[in-house]
Amino acid sequence: MKFFIDSADVNEIREAKDLGIADGVTTNPTLIAKSGKDLKEVVEQVSAEIDGPIFAEVISLDEQGILKEGYEMAKWSDQVVVKIPATIEGLKAARKLEADGIRTGITLIFSPSQALLAAKSGASYVIPFVGRLDDVSSDGLELVSQVVDIFVNYPELESEVLAASVRHPMHILDCALMGVDIVTAPLSVYKQLIKHPLTDAGIERFLKDWEKVKK
Ligand code: E4P
Repeated sequence: MKFFIDSADVNEIREAKDLGIADGVTTNPTLIAKSGKDLKEVVEQVSAEIDGPIFAEVISLDEQGILKEGYEMAKWSDQVVVKIPATIEGLKAARKLEADGIRTGITLIFSPSQALLAAKSGASYVIPFVGRLDDVSSDGLELVSQVVDIFVNYPELESEVLAASVRHPMHILDCALMGVDIVTAPLSVYKQLIKHPLTDAGIERFLKDWEKVKK
């Protein structure tokens, strides 16, 4: 299972790398705006830190605009994956970029049928959103489970499933149990995976016992 870091903050990405959880980096326009840098600058800085894919999202909505942005992004680094929203125009652009050897990820996927069509476009990654579905009282993990089942049924669909909008440790654990290829989450969520009150209590007791016999 691969862990991508959902961030445009280079310090955070560096820390994730030190923890072994920076197999790739996903960004979106919101994260780039928060970083205070431009997308190209972020991609260049991140490519100096990690070896895996770096997702850069287009803002154009029409096929030609998406293609223009995608070809430009691909010049920045061969690690770039062009992230494209799940629309008809987006799928057409993804198909062309992939045919030219540029990897794409179809994002903002909220239904299994969107995932199916995204995979048919030849996109390297299909990106279902978990937390944003939970936010509107739908089951985000159920979506991921259905996408995984479809891809198991049809091995000729070669896209990797990248679960995004991952908000807490149980999202990651459930994705792992389903056999999801990749999750992307903020560093804070990954850090929660290691937390357990019995671990803290165990450390405290060991240190107290050690103190008693220490010479
Ligand atoms: C990453 O690819 C997505 O844009 C991101 O995971 C969205 O997360 P959010 O729903 O918490 O903003």
